[in-house]
Amino acid sequence: MTETTRHTLRFAACLLLSVAGYAASGAARGEALQVLHWWKSASERKAVDLIAARLASEADIGWRDSMVPSGSGAGAGIVLRSRMLAKDAPEVAQVNGIVIRDWARLDLLLDLDAVAAAGKWDKQLLPTVAEAIKSDGHVYAAPVGIHRMNTLFYNRKLLARLNLAVPDNWTQFEQAAVKLHQAGIVPLAQSSEPWQVTTLFEALVLSEGAEFHRELFQRRHAAAYTDPRLASALQRLRSLKKWMGSPIAERSWDEGVRELAEGRAAFMVMGDWAKGELVSRGLTVEEGFGCAAVPGTANYHLYNIDTMGMLATRESHRPAQEKLAALIMSPALQNDYNQIKGSIPVLRNPVLAKMDVCARASWKLFTSGPEALVPSLVHRMATEEIVRDAIVAEVHRYFLDDNVSVADTQRRLGTIARTFTKTR
Ligand code: GAL
Repeated sequence: MTETTRHTLRFAACLLLSVAGYAASGAARGEALQVLHWWKSASERKAVDLIAARLASEADIGWRDSMVPSGSGAGAGIVLRSRMLAKDAPEVAQVNGIVIRDWARLDLLLDLDAVAAAGKWDKQLLPTVAEAIKSDGHVYAAPVGIHRMNTLFYNRKLLARLNLAVPDNWTQFEQAAVKLHQAGIVPLAQSSEPWQVTTLFEALVLSEGAEFHRELFQRRHAAAYTDPRLASALQRLRSLKKWMGSPIAERSWDEGVRELAEGRAAFMVMGDWAKGELVSRGLTVEEGFGCAAVPGTANYHLYNIDTMGMLATRESHRPAQEKLAALIMSPALQNDYNQIKGSIPVLRNPVLAKMDVCARASWKLFTSGPEALVPSLVHRMATEEIVRDAIVAEVHRYFLDDNVSVADTQRRLGTIARTFTKTR
C-alpha cells in the first residue's frame, strides 16, 4: 500500500468515526454545541466528559461530540478543514498554536474579547498563554491546559527491581537501557507514528540546548541546520532505536503507556497527557510510575497549550460559544480538568494542592521565567503547520530508513527552513 493510499484510507476512516461520534452523542437539550477534538484515550475522554457535564449543569448547553481520533491532531485538522470548505463547520474546535492566528486572520474564528474582558483573562492568565490565544491584539481561543512535552516517564517497580536510578544524562540512560535489555524488558516504549517520533526528536534537540531548539524551529536560522548539535540529536534518535523493541510498531500513544504500565517497558518520552492515562489505569505517581525531565532538559519546559476556538458559523450560536469559553477559563474547571488530563492550569493562581509532584514541577518551571520556556514544534507552538508537517515527514523518513544519512537529513531540513518564509 502506498503512503498516499494509506493517508487517504486514514482520512476516510477519520471522517466516518467523526460522523459516528457526532451521531452517537447528540445532546437532548434545546441548545447544543458541536465540538471537534482529538481526545480519544480513556483519560482524555474523562477530561472531555467533565467539560461537557459542567456545560450542561452550569449553562444548560449540550455538547455534541465530534471526536476525530488522531494523536496530536493531524487527522482532526484535515477533517476540520474539509468541513469548513463544505460549509459544515462545527461550532467549536480544538485549534492549538499558530493556526489560531492564521484562522483569525481569515475571519474563521470568533473573537472572544468580550468574554475575556468580563472574566479579566489578562489578569488571570499566565503571560505566555495570554499571548498564545491572541492575534493582532484580539483574543481568539479559550485555553484549556498546558502540557509539558519533555517528560521521561518510568515504571518505578521495574527500576527498583533492577536497582536502577532515574537517568539525568544520556550516558546514565544507556547504562540503564543495557541492564533492562539484558533482563528482557523494553527500555524505551516508542511508536513509529510520525508525530511520536518527532516528539522524541524534539526532546533530543532540546537536550542540545533550549536556545538551539528555538533557533532551529522557531526562528529557523540557516546556521542551526548545519550545526553539529543537529547531527548529534539525529544520531541519538537513531541510536535509541535499539532500545525500542522490535519491530517498532506504528501505534497510538496510549498503547505505549500501556506497555509501560504493564511493566513490559521501563521508560517513555511523551507529553504529560501520558500521566493522565497512567493514573486512569490505576497507577499512582507515588508507587506505580514516576516522571522526570528527558535527560539534559531539566531546566526547560517544552510546552504545548490546548485551546478551543469558537468557529464563526451562525451568529445565533455566539452566546453559547461565549458561555463555553467562560466555563473553560473558570478556576473550578481549570483545576479539576487539568488534574484528570495530566496538564497544568493556564491560570496564575491555580490550586497547587490539586497538583501532584509532576504537575508541580511543570508549574514551577513554566512560571520561572522566559528562559525556561520552549514552544513545541510537533504541537504547532513554534511554527506554521506547513513547516511543522514538512519537518515531521523528514524526521520520520530518517527514523524509518537507516540508509538515509544524517548529513542528507540536515540538508533537507535546512531546505525546508529556507523554503517557507516566516510569517510571524
Ligand atoms: C496533543 C494535545 C494533548 C494530547 C495529545 C495526544 O496535541 O495537545 O492534549 O491529547 O495531543 O493526543
